[in-house]
Amino acid sequence: MLGNFSYRNATTLYFGDDSLKYLNEELPKYGKNVLLIYGGGSVKKNGIYDAVIEILKSNGKNIIEDAGVMPNPTVEKLREGVKLAKENQVDLLLALGGGSCCDYAKAVSVSVCCDEDPWEKYFIRFEEPTCEIVPVGCILTMAGTGSEMNAGSVITNHETHQKIGHVFGEAVMPKFSILNPKFTMSLPKRQMVAGIYDIFNHICEQYFSGEDDNTSDYIAEALMKSVIHSSLIAIENPEDYEARSNIMWTATWALNTLISRGKRTDWMVHMLGQSAGGFTDATHGMTLAAVSLPYYRFIMPYGLPKFKRFATEVWGIQADGKSDEEVAMAGLSAMEDWMKKIGVAMSLSELGATEDMIEGIADGTFILEGGYKVLTRDEVVKILRESL
Ligand code: NZQ
Ligand code: ZN
Repeated sequence: MLGNFSYRNATTLYFGDDSLKYLNEELPKYGKNVLLIYGGGSVKKNGIYDAVIEILKSNGKNIIEDAGVMPNPTVEKLREGVKLAKENQVDLLLALGGGSCCDYAKAVSVSVCCDEDPWEKYFIRFEEPTCEIVPVGCILTMAGTGSEMNAGSVITNHETHQKIGHVFGEAVMPKFSILNPKFTMSLPKRQMVAGIYDIFNHICEQYFSGEDDNTSDYIAEALMKSVIHSSLIAIENPEDYEARSNIMWTATWALNTLISRGKRTDWMVHMLGQSAGGFTDATHGMTLAAVSLPYYRFIMPYGLPKFKRFATEVWGIQADGKSDEEVAMAGLSAMEDWMKKIGVAMSLSELGATEDMIEGIADGTFILEGGYKVLTRDEVVKILRESL
């Protein structure tokens, strides 16, 4: 394990098919005014909205609704939400939805009591909050981002084609998150699959770095095996509670800081995918899938032992009689087969990206230094072209 680190997670989780009842235990801890944040209406169709409203009312809350949070929430929506929260002096931001609602709630939480423009302060200058932070709670309806137990918030600016994430400190993490796997059952298959790939890639981003023997990597392998196994069941039978509950729990542990302890991390697939998202507004998990294989095949020679280990430990590739490169390549081919089987996007052009966007996407790609190869800008362009 590298360096010195601390570990604590500030979010209380309530998990299971009857976990919504725990909202009754959390609500009395906060004031009367609750901003109920939700998306484009899925929660009204599947009945989750009604169930939550009933609990809020029975706890005597004054409900202010903030509907219409779009996938990949925008800076304009964020400014509207901040205004609404300020005008109503809200005491709790309750996100009801997927990662977009949860991320949006966190961005509102650090901006309500702050006079500066949130986009400039948090997503351009990456400053930390200097004002009071309104508490966030989350009722999750889509498994994928891990936003329910982390301090990340990703906001999109369509005007500048930028999609930028800020990982805040502990004070911005949801105070509580309610995870009912049954709430994810109404997801369209494409969203379920995008979430599954997002989970898998969060684990890869933390796994493909470092040369040391590290417990975090063994935990990562177990999580990858679980999500692969459950994904194959869930695509055949989306109603399989066991598979859907394992997917939901894995999503949380894939990105709640546990498996990044004591090691370097990569995150270049997210940087490439996120920048592509700034140009296409495509579904997050799909953008990651589209750039993953060109990126991993490119960096594989620089991190050969780990790619070999990925092949044998995660994909069960037999190493006998093969060179290390052959084993590593076979692992990535097995990953490709799985990606095709579950049905993720295999190219950026499927997501609306075109050749003339490549330079702009490359400009918007932050180059990070934790992985096996620090990319040059030319290499970023090459990987993006191969992903088209
Ligand atoms: O808006 P509604 O009508 O609710 O529909 C949503 C949305 O269209 C739908 N949906 C969600 N739950 C549903 C459902 N439809 C039917 N039944 C349900 N139970 O699914 C669509 C996508 O929802 P969204 O919240 O956008 O998906 P996701 O959870 O993947 O969140 C994506 C956002 O999170 C960011 C992404 O960049 C993107 O902006 N991320 C946040 C991270 C973090 N906080 O750590 C890390 C991730 O890497 C990611 O960047
Ligand atoms: Zn992600």
